[in-house]
Formats: sequence, C-alpha cells, structure tokens
Amino acid sequence: MVSRPRRAFVLGSVARSSNDTPFPNNGQAPIATTEFRLQGCAGQGEVGPNVDEQYWDDMAERFEEGVLEIAGVDQEGILAEEIKRLRWAGRTAADLGCGPGSLLPQLAEAFVHVDAVDYSEELLDKARRRHGRPNIRFQRGDLIKGGLGGMQVDVSFCVNVLLVPHRRKLERIVETVRDATKPGGHIVFVVPSFESVLHVYESLARVRRKEGAPEGLSRKKAEKQLHKFVRCFVEGVVDISGVLTKHWTQTDLEGTLEDAGLQVERVRKVPFSWVEEIDRPPVWLDPRLPWDWLVVARRV
Ligand SMILES: C[S@@+](CC[C@H](N)C(=O)[O-])C[C@H]1O[C@@H](n2cnc3c(N)ncnc32)[C@H](O)[C@@H]1O
Repeated sequence: MVSRPRRAFVLGSVARSSNDTPFPNNGQAPIATTEFRLQGCAGQGEVGPNVDEQYWDDMAERFEEGVLEIAGVDQEGILAEEIKRLRWAGRTAADLGCGPGSLLPQLAEAFVHVDAVDYSEELLDKARRRHGRPNIRFQRGDLIKGGLGGMQVDVSFCVNVLLVPHRRKLERIVETVRDATKPGGHIVFVVPSFESVLHVYESLARVRRKEGAPEGLSRKKAEKQLHKFVRCFVEGVVDISGVLTKHWTQTDLEGTLEDAGLQVERVRKVPFSWVEEIDRPPVWLDPRLPWDWLVVARRV
C-alpha cells in the first residue's frame, strides 16, 4: 500500500483525476497562465491557470475522468437527502454552475421546473444531451456577471462552483445565486473543505505512525507537502495540479454567506471515499472520511 496525497486533482476536492501528472491537461503546461496572482499571501505573485469558461469548455470531453462530481461520490447520500428535504420548500429549482448535469436527474424528479445554468457552452450541451427533460430549461449564464434574466426560483443549488481564488468573484457568484432565489427561498452550496485538506495530511502522518515506513508520510514530510500545496492559509488557496483553488473553512463559508444577507440554516459534511485523496488507503481510516462542506442557507 502506498499512502500519499493524490495531488493530481484538477480542482480541489471537486475535481480529481487518477493520473499523476502535475497539470490537469495531460502533463502539458497549464492552459493559460495569466490571471491569478495571490496578493498578500505566502505565494504572492504566483500565477495559476485562468479557470474561465474556455478552461471548462476544454474540460468538457474528459470531465468524468478529470473531475470528481460530488453527486456521484456522496458516500452518505447527504445531497440526495437535502434534495428530498427541500422538495417541499417549493416547486422550482435551479442548478447554477450545473456542469455536465450530474445533479439534474434528482432535481428534475423533485421539482416541477428546473433551470440549469452554466457559462461553458460545451458542458451545457453535454448536460442537455445526458439529462435533457421537458421540465429542465438550459441557459447559458455567467454567475460572476450576474443577471440571469430575472430568474426567481424557490431552491437554488450551487455545487462546487465557488472555486476561484478571488474574493470579489466569489462574492459576486454568491450574490447572483442569492438574487436568482425568491425571498424566503433556500440555497444549497457545496464547496471544497479546507479543514479536510488538513485532515488528509494529518491522516497521512497517522498512517506512518501506525503502519511504519514506507506507508503514509513522516510528520516532517507531511508538513513540507502541506506548505508546498497550500499557497495561502488565510484564504484557503490550494495548488491542485497547478490550479489555484479556493477551499473553505466552515467559518469563512458562513461569514461570506451572512455578509451577502443570507441566513445560514445548517452546515453538513458531504463525506467521500479516501481513494479520491490517497492511493490504497487503510480501512481503519474509513470512520473519518475526507469531505466537502454543504450549507443550506435562506434568502431573508
Ligand atoms: C467543478 S464543476 C461543478 C459542476 C457541477 N456543479 C458538479 O457538481 O458536478 C464547476 C462548474 O461551474 C461552472 N462555472 C464556474 N464559474 C462559473 C461562472 N462564473 N458562471 C457560470 N458557471 C460557472 C463551470 O463551467 C463548471 O461547469
């Protein structure tokens, strides 16, 4: 058994690939190297790929291999449970940043009408081909620019979209999701957990203590790797295969939503298998799986 972080993710805990290349695009240099500069962080001035609609268009063909869709690996059915719970909250729903649409079958089943929005034409096409139903309307839209044609739904879902390491862009996405939701309506966000990143490294050190070398990582090596991949502890920015990806602490998430005028009702873990993080993980790690955060908030 080799236990090591599967640092070949494409986008944090939402977008993992099984190969070990340093970049998501098959070992090539990042798709673009212009936009993200971390300000005021340890990695200040560092540049990552520009994760924009072009990036996601390019990902479309190999999305399933390269990107982990949380709806498909939700070990305890937390997302499905929340959809069942919220189906009574209204008749209309939106999947904002729907990607290839893994959540759409459940939403189309639970709600009378579903709006599926993404800014990637390619992914939207894929979602339409895979999951097109009469009660789903597909719409191209940029959640940073906002203005989704006055959309007003009872329940909004925004699953693993809050990923860019730009505070203002993240706030804009939250505001667009809020504005697309009726006052009194509910919003579900799922995001990569920064605590879970720490948990992975702490667990690797634990594996070494319990099983001895070469399993896991020494404390020193775990510390070194953590510092290598976490580019900004304050903002939770983690280098995932060369892509700077926002990870959220629970308090950061709650505070950001509250600042946008949303009322946080509950925060839950969405645990997923260790194989998404570690090669051949020992079974005794299973009681404490890595996780994404899920938050249910209300537009007041
Ligand atoms: C990691 S994927 C998640 C897809 C899907 N929600 C899931 O859970 O499988 C991120 C998705 O968000 C979309 N996205 C990111 N930023 C966006 C924006 N500003 N406006 C619209 N869609 C966006 C991407 O195109 C991509 O489909």
